[in-house]
Amino acid sequence: PMSYETILVEKKGNVTLITLNRPQALNALNSRVLEDLIQAFAAFEADRTQGCAVLTGLGEKAFAAGADIKEMVDKAGAEFYAQDFFAGWTSQIVKTTRKPWIAAVNGFALGGGCELAMMADFIIASENARFGQPEIKLGVAPGMGGSQRLARAVGKAKAMDMCLTGRMMDAAEAERTGLVSRVVPLDQLLAEALAAAEAIAAMPPLAAMMNKEMVNMAFETTLDTGLILERRMFQVLASTEDKAEGMAAFVEKRPGTWKGQ
Ligand code: CAA
Repeated sequence: PMSYETILVEKKGNVTLITLNRPQALNALNSRVLEDLIQAFAAFEADRTQGCAVLTGLGEKAFAAGADIKEMVDKAGAEFYAQDFFAGWTSQIVKTTRKPWIAAVNGFALGGGCELAMMADFIIASENARFGQPEIKLGVAPGMGGSQRLARAVGKAKAMDMCLTGRMMDAAEAERTGLVSRVVPLDQLLAEALAAAEAIAAMPPLAAMMNKEMVNMAFETTLDTGLILERRMFQVLASTEDKAEGMAAFVEKRPGTWKGQ
């Protein structure tokens, strides 16, 4: 297995568990974390035994308290633009991970931490989770998708409230507003997220990838175009061996077995 400096990666059957491992900095996201996550997600994506991933933070306090402020404090302004700082999160994790993955948010998910959680296909939160985009208090603004994904997730009123006041949302408000799909006690968070991931990993894999792609399409296109794309993807899935098996298994009242083709 590969070893990483800032994350832990474990394969649990068909599920990859990735744990942010800088608890002394509340799992703040620096360039090394990004490099490690790019490697880990690429390995997950390439491994045919792995069907779903879970991303969480080590410790009881934080999923991730944001981009690493200590890495940014002395960085020259023009460098952020010259390096296209933060671009890799979208280009090398979100866009290249076609398999489903879940964020299990176990505490603070602030700034880049909230943004990283929102890159997941869905979020399961512990009761002590806190979400926020406090960048405004630092004289900046979200840089890893917060303004765009939060607005899409919870609508304009809540997104503006969060970005302009920098306040935190608790787990109940996050569930009520649709930011997270489930809230569970902290001591059940990992079990709940891993069980959800196992359920997904047990699905026909091409169908899992296309379901993910379809839902994401809803945020990229008009309804008419999205509906056409949805039908085309359905029609593509209908030609797979797993469709033949899945429907036959239903009719024959037995569990299906999947080939991923
Ligand atoms: N970057 C670097 N270090 C961080 C950090 C961050 N985002 N968040 C916390 N830490 C460090 C602290 O500096 C501290 O380290 P030391 O012990 O060496 O001083 C350690 O983690 C523990 O943190 P605190 O002592 O502050 O813990 P607390 O319980 O008093 O407060 C907190 C917890 C409210 C989450 C507070 O740490 C906090 O406000 N953190 C910063 C949150 C923030 O502003 N995030 C946005 C960052 S900018 C960004 O993310 C840009 C973007 O859009 C991509």
